[in-house]
Amino acid sequence: MFRKPVIAGNWKMNTLPFEGVELARSLREKLGEVANVEVVIAPPFTHLHAINEEVKGTPIRLAAQNLNAKDSGAYTGEISAAMLLTMGCDFAIIGHSERRQYFGETDDSVNEKILAALANQLTPIVCVGETLEEREANKTLEVIATQLSGALKGLTAEGWKDIIVAYEPVWAIGTGKTASNEQAQEVHGFIRSELEKSLGKAIADKTRILYGGSVKPDSICGLMDQPDIDGALVGGASLKAEDFVKIVNFGKG
Ligand code: PGA
Repeated sequence: MFRKPVIAGNWKMNTLPFEGVELARSLREKLGEVANVEVVIAPPFTHLHAINEEVKGTPIRLAAQNLNAKDSGAYTGEISAAMLLTMGCDFAIIGHSERRQYFGETDDSVNEKILAALANQLTPIVCVGETLEEREANKTLEVIATQLSGALKGLTAEGWKDIIVAYEPVWAIGTGKTASNEQAQEVHGFIRSELEKSLGKAIADKTRILYGGSVKPDSICGLMDQPDIDGALVGGASLKAEDFVKIVNFGKG
């Protein structure tokens, strides 16, 4: 089954708005036309409007790094899915491990955010991943199964819209330690089998599962060769236009 690869850059809390616009411009110029890969960048909220002006009409699409599940109201400091849609976002990263670790997000709140994203035509990029402790205790698959079923609670095959899953082992994020191709494939294959169990084969077959955690230009090809890896969620290397472009062009090397 063909699944169009997705290469998504998670800028996290980096760059000032003018730097972000320059980075987006540089990506646009270096990338030119990209037909075979879906290219997504997730700048901070404060940059979205200006960057949308820069990338509109190009293959680069925008993601938010987070959202609030409520539609509107007295939630000081928060941003709704509808607001993000009007900023030009097509995607939203949901449940990143940094949000789980530092901002108290749980599988339940991740689930609410996914439903809010879907209700507002945003494609969720749902992050799951185990800590080093969990891996060493042989709990990786158990943790992933729990996160996945919590995140996708209430979703049915009939109502399914495009949802992207990102497997990001916490111990590989920002550490320079990538999971080996085999370690990543094992979990990706498991995620697909879990999706098949709960939502059926058609949905499991078409769902894109990205790997994230210290992806660099020299590790992307080996990862993309794995049957169940359909792209990457890239942190550090997405802040360097040249590296990110090399990752997007993984198939052209
Ligand atoms: P990293 O981050 O590529 O810097 O490890 C990945 C992520 O957190 O999405």
